[in-house]
Amino acid sequence: MKKTMGPLNCLYPMPVTLVGANVSGKPNYLAVAHVGIMNHGKPQYISVGLSRRHYTNEGIRENGTFSVNIPAEEMVVATDYCGIASGRNADKSALFETFYGELKTAPMISECPVNMECLLYDTIEFPTHEVFIGEIRGTYCDEAVLSNDEVDPVKLKPMLFEMGTKRYWRLGDPIAKCWNIGKTMKGK
Ligand SMILES: Cc1cc2nc3c(=O)[nH]c(=O)nc-3n(C[C@H](O)[C@H](O)[C@H](O)COP(=O)(O)O)c2cc1C
Repeated sequence: MKKTMGPLNCLYPMPVTLVGANVSGKPNYLAVAHVGIMNHGKPQYISVGLSRRHYTNEGIRENGTFSVNIPAEEMVVATDYCGIASGRNADKSALFETFYGELKTAPMISECPVNMECLLYDTIEFPTHEVFIGEIRGTYCDEAVLSNDEVDPVKLKPMLFEMGTKRYWRLGDPIAKCWNIGKTMKGK
């Protein structure tokens, strides 16, 4: 038996990120779980879905750039704080050490093991949210989270956000190899 749930989005858990932008010349960071992969290939486009109320949006519009930083689980307190406090009435610029890459105006967080700086490609307006699509122009990774030059999720320890009970989770164990385990069905 299936229970009818109405239009409920069940795409959780999602990795939680810290999105950064300079607002009036000062870095501001907010927690964002609604991140999407738009064009996987060359170039790489990703999206962030932000409520219109957020302060960070002003900086993305102002500079046409933003960053997506992946915090590790040790950063849970500061990450959650960035999801509670608004830059409109709290200064979040000194919470982290900020660095800049080739775009010069997309602030990135040194303490996050993975950082992507994005050039704004397009903005899609929805009734309550705006989705900013950015082209990834540069990615910076701590060597400590790499294995064979790939980001190793076991080393990275990303946090997964779940809407139902509003909690952060960590990754479990791998199940099987992708583009591989399915081959065992061949001939069936
Ligand atoms: C775990 C978590 C995930 C969040 N994900 C999103 C999101 O995907 N989109 C969004 O608009 N707000 C999201 N928020 C809320 C914003 O991070 C929050 O309202 C923030 O204070 C806005 O900051 P700003 O006004 O400085 O931009 C999330 C909050 C938390 C705690």
